[in-house]
Amino acid sequence: GVCNGSEVRLVKSPRKRIAFPEKPKWNPKDSAQMSIVKEALHVSSAPLAIVCREDEQKRVFEFCKTSIEEERGGSLYVCGCPGTGKTLSMEKVMQNLLDWVKEMLEVYQPLKKVNRASSALHHLQKLFSQKKQSSTEKMMLIVADELDYLSTKDRFVLHDLFMLTSFPFSRCILIGIANALDLADRFLPKLQALNCKPVVVTFRAYSKDQILGILRQRLAALSFDVFNPQALELCARKVAAASGDMRKALCVCRSAIEMLEELRDASSTMNFLQQENTSLAQPNSSAAECFVKRENNIVRVDHMALALARTFKSTIVDIIQSLPQHQQIVLCSMVKLFRGSKNYTTVGELNRFYIELCKSSHIPPAGFLETSNMCRVLSAQLNRFCVLLIL
Ligand SMILES: Nc1ncnc2c1ncn2[C@@H]1O[C@H](COP(=O)(O)OP(=O)(O)O)[C@@H](O)[C@H]1O
Ligand SMILES: [Mg+2]
Repeated sequence: GVCNGSEVRLVKSPRKRIAFPEKPKWNPKDSAQMSIVKEALHVSSAPLAIVCREDEQKRVFEFCKTSIEEERGGSLYVCGCPGTGKTLSMEKVMQNLLDWVKEMLEVYQPLKKVNRASSALHHLQKLFSQKKQSSTEKMMLIVADELDYLSTKDRFVLHDLFMLTSFPFSRCILIGIANALDLADRFLPKLQALNCKPVVVTFRAYSKDQILGILRQRLAALSFDVFNPQALELCARKVAAASGDMRKALCVCRSAIEMLEELRDASSTMNFLQQENTSLAQPNSSAAECFVKRENNIVRVDHMALALARTFKSTIVDIIQSLPQHQQIVLCSMVKLFRGSKNYTTVGELNRFYIELCKSSHIPPAGFLETSNMCRVLSAQLNRFCVLLIL
């Protein structure tokens, strides 16, 4: 296929390319090396190759290629959870398509490429305003990323966008990319009724092995070992279990490197203090103490475990902080109730704890019905907590 790596000629990527200078050995104290490693793992750095998404890319490429060859419009709906490589893969497909038909296509990405936004908007307005598209028009590829933001209550915008591709003389190919999986369930039936149902390409969450493969591939560009293999595996396993979000896997790896730096700094301070024979060494630096004796130039499993705990803990805190005030109070009441050996309760008992807590904080409590509704909402959220807390 045309998407086959060996046959693809690269045009200039819109993302930053990383140049990896030849370095024989990883030295975390070398700030230049440290920044190369961090950049290789940065979400905004384009990897040298995209692994695991060959089939999805091929499907989208072939769809667009056929539409162009047959000179007819069509639409694709690309969906998958955040961090499943949708944007990255579609950028690659566009590169390949552009390469294939340099002159025939005009590529519009109004939401991303600011310099093209005004002309893209202009073209879209023209498309929407004209009653009928002429069959002599050039073929046009519209890539609408983050489609979720266009999901208004009535979804007129989304419907109109997909309708553009279904007119008899349409020259538009639309690739709509969305994160919310249920968006498809909510609006595809309507599109079907309007006779413009798109072809759906689903990006499934990455598995443990896929995350591991992608991380290894990104790190292979470096000529030194940064991670202990078990540390990488731990990261891949935990992230796959939580969400399969590649962005998260990259963030955890970067955070693990920061952990190595922090603990190394802490341990070298300790060394210094011990050498100086002062009594300043803090009692809570015993964790750092055990790192002094160990290998200090590689990201180990313990660094990764700390990074994972830090990343996923902050997610829980974020979720709790984003809850409405009364749901937070209900949650506090639950914690208070279940602190002892108790492991079940009734809504009535929980309500009593809730009212008590409200009174002690001088907040007027909500009614019983509302409290039981809040419990229902929270129990849906708690399923997510459990997944995170197991980590
Ligand atoms: N198959 C892959 N190979 C290399 N890096 C990947 C891959 N999939 C995702 N990534 C990286 O993960 C991050 C999120 O990918 P992105 O395409 O933006 O996800 P989405 O658009 O699905 O939310 C990016 O930094 C990207 O480089
Ligand atoms: Mg995206």
